[in-house]
Amino acid sequence: MSWQAIGIFDSGVGGLTVLREIFRALPQEDTIYFGDTARVPYGTKSPETVTRYAHEITTFLAKRDIKLLVVACNTASAVALNALKREFPIPVVGVIEPGARRAVEVTRSGRVGVIGTAGTIKSSAYSRAIKRLNPAAEVITRACPLFVPLAEEGWTDNQVARLTAQTYLQELREARVDTLVLGCTHYPLLKTVIAETMGPDVVLVDSAEETARTVAEILSKKKMMRPPSEQGNHHYYVSDIPAGFIRVGNRFLGGRLGDVYQVNLDEESAGD
Ligand code: DGL
Repeated sequence: MSWQAIGIFDSGVGGLTVLREIFRALPQEDTIYFGDTARVPYGTKSPETVTRYAHEITTFLAKRDIKLLVVACNTASAVALNALKREFPIPVVGVIEPGARRAVEVTRSGRVGVIGTAGTIKSSAYSRAIKRLNPAAEVITRACPLFVPLAEEGWTDNQVARLTAQTYLQELREARVDTLVLGCTHYPLLKTVIAETMGPDVVLVDSAEETARTVAEILSKKKMMRPPSEQGNHHYYVSDIPAGFIRVGNRFLGGRLGDVYQVNLDEESAGD
């Protein structure tokens, strides 16, 4: 058993959809969340830049003695996961592998759609992960960058959201995918509109849910899980002023955030 917290980070509020699932699966665990609100979005940035950010944040969290790291951001998982695994001596869980595994389990036709940020789609990380598990699978991908601001604005069930979904998802419908991976932290908020657009025969895979399941499996296998009778404490850090994070974050988390602290990663690393 280990009393240390689970560390989790994202480019901003999006990773709270992953945290929400971790709360559900492991309510007894302490968590430390970092949202890089000063540098969001990651989805439009180069792999080198995102990897550098991911390294700085993991260094910050590792100093808080975490027992496991969850890279909740799909873009950071897509481009920086291997580097983090090499550099930090703790289990590191990304969102790509769990989502890919679930997609391979549920697809009947082998035609799988993946949607995400431009960075995630360009990296081909989901396609590679799915094909590693099922080389015969056909993976059709599409970047849907406008879904991110729509989710943050709370425009998840109106005409703008529906039209945007219809436009982005047209090719995936034509390709007759039977499974669609929601490969971005923000997309679970648009689940209703995406499901409506894709039709009842397409199964949506929520990477957030699958990731929480993977975290529970790892903690259990490594005998690091806290007793279920415990109640976890939760800490939140951001790199810009907390006001916007709190406003949007409560919706993403589906509950009330605790205190949110602003930190300056440059000052943190200068103290080394
Ligand atoms: N969190 C990002 C992801 O899941 C979406 C927002 C961003 O572009 O930073 O890819």
